[in-house]
Amino acid sequence: MSSVASTGQTTVRVGIVGGGLMGREVAAALGRWFVLEKFPVRFELTAVCDVQEPARDWFRRVPTVRHFIVDYHELIHLDDIDVIYVAVPHNLHEEIYIQVLAAGKDLFAEKPFGIDLAAARKIRDAAILHKRFVRCSSEFPFLPGALRAFAAARSGKLGKILEIRSGFWHSSDLDPSKPANWKRQNKTCGEIGVMGDLGMHAAHLPLRLGWKPKRVYAQLQKIYTQRPDGKGGTASCDTWDNAMLHTDVAIDGREIPMRLETKRLAPGETNTWFFEVLGTEGGVRFSTKEPKTLWTFHREKEQWWQRTDLGSQVAFPTITGAIFEAGFADCFLQMWAGFAMERAGQLGDRFGCVTPDEAVASHEIFAAALASHAAKKAVDL
Ligand SMILES: NC(=O)c1ccc[n+]([C@@H]2O[C@H](COP(=O)([O-])OP(=O)(O)OC[C@H]3O[C@@H](n4cnc5c(N)ncnc54)[C@H](O)[C@@H]3O)[C@@H](O)[C@H]2O)c1
Repeated sequence: MSSVASTGQTTVRVGIVGGGLMGREVAAALGRWFVLEKFPVRFELTAVCDVQEPARDWFRRVPTVRHFIVDYHELIHLDDIDVIYVAVPHNLHEEIYIQVLAAGKDLFAEKPFGIDLAAARKIRDAAILHKRFVRCSSEFPFLPGALRAFAAARSGKLGKILEIRSGFWHSSDLDPSKPANWKRQNKTCGEIGVMGDLGMHAAHLPLRLGWKPKRVYAQLQKIYTQRPDGKGGTASCDTWDNAMLHTDVAIDGREIPMRLETKRLAPGETNTWFFEVLGTEGGVRFSTKEPKTLWTFHREKEQWWQRTDLGSQVAFPTITGAIFEAGFADCFLQMWAGFAMERAGQLGDRFGCVTPDEAVASHEIFAAALASHAAKKAVDL
């Protein structure tokens, strides 16, 4: 049960299953919760579960954590946990997410929300069955530039939409000596490969805008099929590395081209998330490549792209002044603030996290992309 802290905030106790890369990011975000101004809820990390001891031990530096657990079944039944964040390999999503929900806890899920479409539907249905609050992670839309791009896309002031591009690029896999991990293998990452890793990030804003593709033509690439296994040998890598999804979306009764791009091998790109909408009267472009820059297109007698330097204009105010710029840690905290506010019924008209239906919709796109690539033709959704 939640309690009320001396600050007047309701305290919500959080447990983490999977204390790897993202589990630690969440610990960091919750650890600076106090920077949120006039916030009604206080999220506090109290428990961690990981099968690996070094991963669990890392959390000993977090003063509020009092449970260090090996078996997740134990964590999900703790009385002093209200919300569970699960960040484990994709083959474990379905089992652990559904067990969390059956145990009566709310769930902050990681993408891709199940290893495939069937798993995503089962998780969504379990959330409905057990009446739990469930959202899925996708942090970049919480950046000030992304929020502005979203608002512009939704404004109806861009004229007739010409085209949309949304994507997420990485480059570290260009190095063939980078060791393989579970994200490079179908059995743990899923047949959808890079789309499972990066696709939710590309699909979140389009789906929130109601731009679900009517059809998909996918170009999928496997580039390095073997990598060092990190133990002196080699490991086979059978996942798709790069995915270009050419789609059609219906907007105002017309079909508009929308490209969703997810790439592990995009030369020179480090965590580059971007969203661009072009219309006859206006346009908007934001990329984490230029994290404080918003590009907007205007057309009068002349045409021009205008560059605006953004500050830390976030949806959930923090102590950070608007004259400073926002980064990854900030959008991660903002995403959690969005989760907390929506769970508390106080989100209002602010941007919220990926819903279970949106997660299922993203899987429908990725499943169609697999079918399209196999048949070398466009596939209707
Ligand atoms: N939102 C984002 O930006 C983002 C970024 C990277 C990864 N992710 C997602 O987060 C999830 C985890 O990815 P990661 O990069 O943190 O992986 P990771 O490999 O760094 O961490 C996964 C952790 O899960 C633990 N684990 C495995 N089986 C377990 C079990 N049965 N019980 C408890 N712990 C178990 C592992 O020991 C490991 O510490 C994935 O779904 C991934 O797609 C999201």
